[in-house]
Amino acid sequence: MPRKDTGFPTDPAMIRRQRDLLAGHFQTLFAGPLAFWGPAGQAADAVDAFLAVWPNRPIPDNTGGSGFNDSLSIFVLARLSGARRVIESGTHRGHSAWLFRQALPGAMIDSFDVNHGNLQYRAEGVRFHERDWNAADLTGDADSLVFFDDHMSHARRLIEARERGFTRILLDDNVPAHALFATGTPPFPTLEMIVDDGLKDGQRFTWQRNGKPFEATLDGDLVRRAREILDRYAVLPDLADVTLYGPQSRLTAVTLKSD
Ligand SMILES: C[S@@+](CC[C@H](N)C(=O)[O-])C[C@H]1O[C@@H](n2cnc3c(N)ncnc32)[C@H](O)[C@@H]1O
Repeated sequence: MPRKDTGFPTDPAMIRRQRDLLAGHFQTLFAGPLAFWGPAGQAADAVDAFLAVWPNRPIPDNTGGSGFNDSLSIFVLARLSGARRVIESGTHRGHSAWLFRQALPGAMIDSFDVNHGNLQYRAEGVRFHERDWNAADLTGDADSLVFFDDHMSHARRLIEARERGFTRILLDDNVPAHALFATGTPPFPTLEMIVDDGLKDGQRFTWQRNGKPFEATLDGDLVRRAREILDRYAVLPDLADVTLYGPQSRLTAVTLKSD
């Protein structure tokens, strides 16, 4: 049974309980595996800020994009990054661009997608571009955040980001090698594959999704180059068990080496 994020508690006691569970989840994360990303002391406030804006989202049905769990994680990670500049690759309907606008009201935001056919909402102050981010002249710094949700190779995207000076990255769809079927056109090789010592240069992967066969071959040199620039990363644990909303997309917070 697909669990939609259109339902929610309406009585004060259960609203409070849901909020406390979510705040506790992020406080634990930022005190542990996400300590490199931002201060744990700001996590509960970020959850409250998200819960305040979520009911006003301009795209209530974001099929093909982030739902409640991913949106909450993106919002909290963006808010705690304190970024002043955000680049998003993978606009889709415009939901995550709106989310970044809410999380970081003062940031300069650019959102890229090669196809604006699904774009429904242009958040105020966000610059939307209908092209690959490689076609733009971009330079990042320590105050920048890049979100890759475009299903392009994580290895290539990390290398491209580092070449432009971006070191703080969010990757979506970071699926492991045995579950490439879990998302349509996975960002092969994913970060999980980049750090997987059990995989070999030239290894061929085959999988099936919705009755369609897929295959891809691992480029060991590309993997090595991506691994060399990795600093730290943490895969966000799925909130589905807490919220009972649909499962998360293995959103992953990454920092790259800066020298
Ligand atoms: C999963 S959707 C993005 C969802 C959106 N970030 C959200 O959370 O609401 C993936 C998007 O990536 C776009 N895409 C595909 N190739 C791309 C590329 N090379 N550069 C930027 N976007 C690309 C697709 O057109 C699609 O709209």
